[in-house]
Amino acid sequence: MTALGTEKASDRWNILRQAIIKKSRGGGQSKKKSSMLEFTSFDLLTVNKVIDDDGGVWHLYQYQPVEPFRARVKHIPTVFNPEELMGFNNTGNVCVWPAEEVLTYWCLENRHLFKQQKICELGGGMTCLAGLAVATCCAAEEVLLTDGNELSIKNVQEILKENAEYLKAKTVTASVIRWDKQDEYTHFKETFDYVISADCLFFDQYREDLLTTIGTILKPKGVCIIFAPRRHKTCDKFCAMAKERYQVTLEEKYDAAIWNKHLEAIEKSSDIYDENRHYPLKITLMKS
Ligand SMILES: C[S@@+](CC[C@H](N)C(=O)[O-])C[C@H]1O[C@@H](n2cnc3c(N)ncnc32)[C@H](O)[C@@H]1O
Repeated sequence: MTALGTEKASDRWNILRQAIIKKSRGGGQSKKKSSMLEFTSFDLLTVNKVIDDDGGVWHLYQYQPVEPFRARVKHIPTVFNPEELMGFNNTGNVCVWPAEEVLTYWCLENRHLFKQQKICELGGGMTCLAGLAVATCCAAEEVLLTDGNELSIKNVQEILKENAEYLKAKTVTASVIRWDKQDEYTHFKETFDYVISADCLFFDQYREDLLTTIGTILKPKGVCIIFAPRRHKTCDKFCAMAKERYQVTLEEKYDAAIWNKHLEAIEKSSDIYDENRHYPLKITLMKS
């Protein structure tokens, strides 16, 4: 097996392992990190389970300092078989990954950037939580929530209906966009001021496609903001490829509160916290 193959297999195995542990414990985010075998959250947002009249389980995400961020979000309760989990496109149906949580927090803290702007989230998974936060907290012109997985987008469309009264952006939609299928996004050529994305850099076979998608849909002076854990060398590989087309900035310490959560996790949860898989770096791409 090549070094590249080994990396990919181990990352996929870790995702599968995390998913099995979470699903066998009831799935979803939990505040009781210490009793779990996996690190799931930096606890930047408040998450409470809500049961609707039909018995449907929702998760109420809130970030108190920013009114009115309050979104009812459904996680996909499917119990995946190993074949489904090993397919590329179910990694976003397993949980809201720490990088998405951090991207959401960062977008809420920097929401002024998105006023009257057009924003697209790529690979947002079953919640597209960060894009949803932008749609609920900023007077954005347009927010497009996307993922390559149809089940994820069906779920996001249900989430948008549920949160309709909280949406502040002029237009908010959710669509399937696969980076390796150009016909799914060429009609968005040079449309977006911002592209945001979390934990999507470890797919060896799609890194180039992801860069092409970003380059196509961003406006000439657009900015792409990505949060992703190092996951061995996958993040560095993406940055090296991106440097051929963009001005790239890679930041490790981008927010004091998140950095403190990271240090806290190293100290208090060293048995479950793995910086390589959990601490998201911030990558900014600007068209040069
Ligand atoms: C690890 S998940 C991250 C999901 C979400 N951003 C989060 O952090 O919770 C990676 C996401 O990338 C999406 N993805 C992978 N390859 C893709 C492709 N070729 N086109 C579009 N989406 C893709 C998957 O469907 C999945 O939702």
